[in-house]
Amino acid sequence: GLVLGLEGTAWNLSAALFGDELIALHSSPYVPPKGGIHPREAAQHHASAMKEVVSRVLTEPERIRAIAFSQGPGLGPSLRTVATAARALSIALGVPLVGVNHCVAHVEIGRWATGFSDPIVLYASGANTQVLGYLNGRYRIFGETLDIGLGNGLDKFARSHDLPHPGGPAIERLARQGNYIELPYTVKGMDLAFSGLVSAAQESGAPLEDVCFGLQETAFAMCVEVTERALAHAGKDEVLLVGGVGANGRLQEMLRVMCEERGAAFAVPERTFLGDNGAMIAYTGKIMLEHGVTLPLEESQIRPGYRANEVEVAWRTEPGE
Ligand code: ATP
Ligand code: FE2
Repeated sequence: GLVLGLEGTAWNLSAALFGDELIALHSSPYVPPKGGIHPREAAQHHASAMKEVVSRVLTEPERIRAIAFSQGPGLGPSLRTVATAARALSIALGVPLVGVNHCVAHVEIGRWATGFSDPIVLYASGANTQVLGYLNGRYRIFGETLDIGLGNGLDKFARSHDLPHPGGPAIERLARQGNYIELPYTVKGMDLAFSGLVSAAQESGAPLEDVCFGLQETAFAMCVEVTERALAHAGKDEVLLVGGVGANGRLQEMLRVMCEERGAAFAVPERTFLGDNGAMIAYTGKIMLEHGVTLPLEESQIRPGYRANEVEVAWRTEPGE
C-alpha cells in the first residue's frame, strides 16, 4: 500500500507518495516578500497551494492506505491548514490518519537516504538545532539550542545586511572569501545558544566576508562539540546531519573531520531530503502505519510544541536494550 504525506510546518508546503520507494514528491515553497516568515501569510500560501500540491501526488487514490501529516512542531496557522487538509483526505478516501513528529521525520528520512542504522543526529534547521540519538524506544535529545535555531539565526543576520532570504546560502558564499574573526562561543553543558553570537556578528565592524566566516566557524564548532560528546557518551559510531542548515559544505566538512578522528562514519542525505519535504512525512507515516500507529480523527489536533522525545518509536527495536 501507499502512504500520502503532507508537510507544511513552516515555509514549505510539500506532499509525497511513498510505497516501497518514493513515488511522487511535489513542493510549493513560501518565500516571504521581505523580512522573516509571517505565520499567517505562510498559512495563506499553504491554503492557496494545497490543491495543486496534493493533486500532483494523488495519482493512485485507490492504493492509498493512510494520510500522514506533520502534526508538529511548527507554526500554528500552517499546522492547522495542513491538518485540515489531511483530515479531509482521510475522510474522503476512507483511510486512517498518521500524525508524524516533524523532527523524527527529518531523522527517519535521513536514515532511509543514507542507509545509516543507529546514528547520532545533528538536526540543524531554521527553528531547531538538536543533537539526538535513539535509546530505549525513544529519540533522546542529548543537547539543543536554548534560544533560537541556527538557521533562523543565520537568516536574521543575513536580513540585517540586506542579504537574500534564506540567509544560510548567502552567508556560506561570502564566508568563502573571508578570514577568521573571533565571536562569542556558547556551549552550556550539552546545550547551545546562538542569539548572543548572532547579535555580536551583527554589531561587528569587520568586513562582511570575515564576519560570515567567523559566524560559521563559531556556530558550527559549537554544534560539532556537542555532537562529538553525544557520540562518545552514547557509544555510537555513525553521525548523520539533517535539516536545512545541513546543506552547508563547511558544516559537513567540520563534522567529517571530527568523525574521521573518532573512527565514526559520517553521512548527509541528498539536498531533497535535507530541508523540509513531504517525503519525510510520507516515509515516516508509512513505517508508523506498518507498526500499527494511527491517529483517531478526534485526537488529530495540531501540536505546535511537539518534541521528538515524546514519540514512542514503535518501529525500532534495537537489540541489547
Ligand atoms: P524546522 O521546522 O525543522 O526548524 P525549517 O522550516 O526551518 O525546519 P529547513 O528547510 O529544515 O526548514 O531549514 C531552513 C534553514 O536552512 C534556513 O534557515 C536556511 O537559511 C538554512 N540553510 C539553507 N541552506 C543553507 C546553507 N547552505 N548554509 C546554512 N544554512 C542553510
Ligand atoms: Fe524542518
